[in-house]
Amino acid sequence: MKRIPPPPEIITGKCTGCGLCVKYCPALVLGMQNKIVTIERKEMCIACGHCGAVCPAEAISHPEARAESHLTVGPGPAVGSEALLKIFRERRSVRFYRPDPIPREVLGKIIEAGRYAPTGSNSQNVHYLVFTDPKEIDRLKEITVSFMDKSFKLIGNRIVAFYAGFIIGRKSVEFMRDYIPAAMSVIESTRKGEDRAFWNARAVILVHAPAWDSSSAFNCSAAINYCALMAHSLGVGVCFNGFLENSAKHDPKLKKFLGLPKDHRCFGAMTMGYQEVKFRRLVERRSPTVEWR
Ligand SMILES: Cc1cc2nc3c(=O)[nH]c(=O)nc-3n(C[C@H](O)[C@H](O)[C@H](O)COP(=O)(O)O)c2cc1C
Repeated sequence: MKRIPPPPEIITGKCTGCGLCVKYCPALVLGMQNKIVTIERKEMCIACGHCGAVCPAEAISHPEARAESHLTVGPGPAVGSEALLKIFRERRSVRFYRPDPIPREVLGKIIEAGRYAPTGSNSQNVHYLVFTDPKEIDRLKEITVSFMDKSFKLIGNRIVAFYAGFIIGRKSVEFMRDYIPAAMSVIESTRKGEDRAFWNARAVILVHAPAWDSSSAFNCSAAINYCALMAHSLGVGVCFNGFLENSAKHDPKLKKFLGLPKDHRCFGAMTMGYQEVKFRRLVERRSPTVEWR
């Protein structure tokens, strides 16, 4: 199952034997012999490129993460902590969009941001499915809403809820049942033409990855969040969509429509469009629950 990438390439003539690459390789691929770096366990390489990123002599590089093709890091982070925090606090869920479509190159830039999100063992296993055709988005919405309708009606039945508790856990069942009135109002208003499920999105992106990889859920969440922040910086508003994500996880009809690889699972979805009205205030939240040890 594990993909084995090619090993790093060493230019021995340039290697000064400083040992930084050996120390920084997280996968213990490298060793040192006669003050020259050597490849000891090439099958362990995860192609992260840390070796080339720390080498002061440009003596090592990974073919999939070529040090020389990467921009050099400046003396400090590109954005200061205050500016970064401001970006985080500016981002809000955007549910009302202007009618203009999002050009493909803008969507490409948004997805490019997800590319740089971290993934477990550097698997880079996040896939993107992008919908921009209004008819396709409508069909996606229709299938999603119909599945949500069926699911919430089912879980509203006491007998079904009792048995579902053994499968998905009592708390999850209670959580779903508490959500029934809100879900039903979303479904009803959407069916009446006021789209509270997909918010008349101009584009929809789903992220999916192999279900068997225990890092996939995190990988997809990190990637889609990077995309959301990039979207914000490009003036595109996004709203994560749990309805769509959950339906894509569980509804065979939707899975078929999406055509994801058989062993893949959807771990995130968002609706998108140019923001209709700008928010005037930064986000405020409760203080985090933190335990210091
Ligand atoms: C996993 C996840 C699923 C969400 N699903 C929906 C959704 O289906 N519909 C929706 O309108 N908002 C959805 N949201 C947006 C949340 O309601 C929103 O993030 C939260 O209220 C905080 O508001 P803010 O994002 O503007 O700060 C979702 C957010 C997350 C993180």
